[in-house]
Parts: sequence; C-alpha cells; structure tokens
Amino acid sequence: MKIILGPASIELAENVSSLIDIQNIPVTSKIFPDGESYVKLEGNVLGENVVIIQTTCPPMQDGKLFQLAFMADAAKRAGANKVTAVVPYLAYTRQDKMFLSGEGISVGTIARMLGASGIDNLLTVNIHSEHVLSEFPFLAKTVSGISLLAEYFVKQGHKNVFALAPDKGAMYIAQEAQQVLGGGVGHLSKVRDRYTGQTVQSAEGLDVEGQTVVIFDDIISTGGTIVGAAKILKERGAKHVFTACVHPLLIGDASKRILEAGVEEIVGTDSVPGVYSKVSLAPLISKQLKGAI
Ligand code: R5P
Repeated sequence: MKIILGPASIELAENVSSLIDIQNIPVTSKIFPDGESYVKLEGNVLGENVVIIQTTCPPMQDGKLFQLAFMADAAKRAGANKVTAVVPYLAYTRQDKMFLSGEGISVGTIARMLGASGIDNLLTVNIHSEHVLSEFPFLAKTVSGISLLAEYFVKQGHKNVFALAPDKGAMYIAQEAQQVLGGGVGHLSKVRDRYTGQTVQSAEGLDVEGQTVVIFDDIISTGGTIVGAAKILKERGAKHVFTACVHPLLIGDASKRILEAGVEEIVGTDSVPGVYSKVSLAPLISKQLKGAI
C-alpha cells in the first residue's frame, strides 16, 4: 500500500503515512492560466493498492474534487491495483435530496463522477447523512471524529461537560461525545426555511444553568447555527460555552461572530486545515487503513 499526498491534505496525509509507516507518493499540482487543474503523481504505483488522502472543503471545493478524480485516474493509468479515496470532508453531501421541485441530488452526481474516475472505495468522516452512502457505485464508509473532539476537552481538564446538539438530527453526535465526557446531553430544535435558508432555533426543557456546555456539530459553515445556540445557552444561564465540530468550514466572519456570541473556544479537526484544526483525524484514519493492510 502507498499513500498519495492529495494537495488539499498534505499534512494530514503525511501524518497518516508516518503513523502506519507507509511510503508516500507526492503530487505535483498547479492551476493553468485558464483555471483548469493539473496533477502528476511523483512515484511508482504499478500493482499497488493506493490510498489518496484529499479533503474537498472550501475554498475551491470543485477544484479539489477534480484533483481527486484526476489523481485516481492517474493512479489507475499508472497501473495501480486498487484506489481508495480518503476524503475527510466530502463536498456537496448536504444536497442529499430534492428539497424543492427542480433540484437535483448533488451528492449523487459527485458519487457517480468519483466512480467513473477509477476510485474503488471511499472513506469519509462524519458525512452529513449516512443514507447518501448508497448513492456511491462502490463501497463508501463514514467514520466519526467526535470522540477525538470530546477527548480534547477532557485533556484540557474540563469536567462534567454537557454535550449539546444544535438540532435533533445531531443528537447522535452529542451522545457520542457524552460517552467520553460523561456529563449531561441534550439538543435544541432547528427549523430551516428552504427558500431563504434562515433557521429558527428553540429549546424545550433544557437545564444548563451554571454548566459548562460544548455544542457539537458535524459542520460549522456560516456559524449561524452555533451563534443561535450560544445565545439560547447564555439566556439559560450556562457558565461556559464551547463549540466543536469535525468540519470547521467557518465561512467569512463565522468564527468572529461565534466568539462574539460568547463561545470561549472553537475546536475543529484537520478535515478542514486552518487555525481551528486543533484535533487531527490522523489516528482515526490510520486505524481504518491499518485494518485494510
Ligand atoms: C446542518 O444540519 C448541519 O449539521 C450544520 O448544523 C449546519 O450545516 C451548520 O451550518 P451553519 O454554520 O451555516 O449554521
């Protein structure tokens, strides 16, 4: 097995390859003057099972998806046996059904595109809805980075932490965190207007008075969900509020607005490399790959 260092996840891929002591294949990448992507594998993959590690987060998620497809195609053309894609953040997974008439299912298109590029199986992390895995024309699996995020708070010395999901759909995430944190668990309710994208959040019977609360979510995008949740928690007398997510997209001034809403710290993973990538997914991904060696 060899690990191809996807241009969007070089550091994570290097960490994974050193954890499991597997040879790297560097990639030369560039953008042509007309905006098109170019990749070139800098190593021999003939007869190898290869793992491409490449996240597809913003900015330029379309370009990162194309790089992934081009790396898979290049690997197969160079004689690779099996191509596994490890895509910590998989773009377009939130358009997982036709919410409005006239829409498509973007994740279905992405799945078929990746299948056509030569990928044989895919590993992702905390995909927004597991049911979309059936859209892929090959074996696709999701694993969870929530325990790693919860362990971060334990290591920081926080005790009796309340794990909060910002909506009912994320309750399984909060429950997973609670297994590590050992405190209370609960969720808010969130209703989204499909035309405007605006959300309305509410809390029923949530008692967080005097508590340390961590809001866990799979993705933070504009930050609106976390800002709204933090306001409710403050109104309900929470003493300390933190937030953690697997995919800290943090678009625009999201982090500023979250911190201004009274959240003391934002903790994300290197699914989306940046200043909030305080937890690495390398141990989680390595464990999965070790099982396949
Ligand atoms: C939605 O259900 C997701 O789990 C996240 O809560 C959502 O994508 C966050 O988006 P934003 O940060 O824009 O509120």
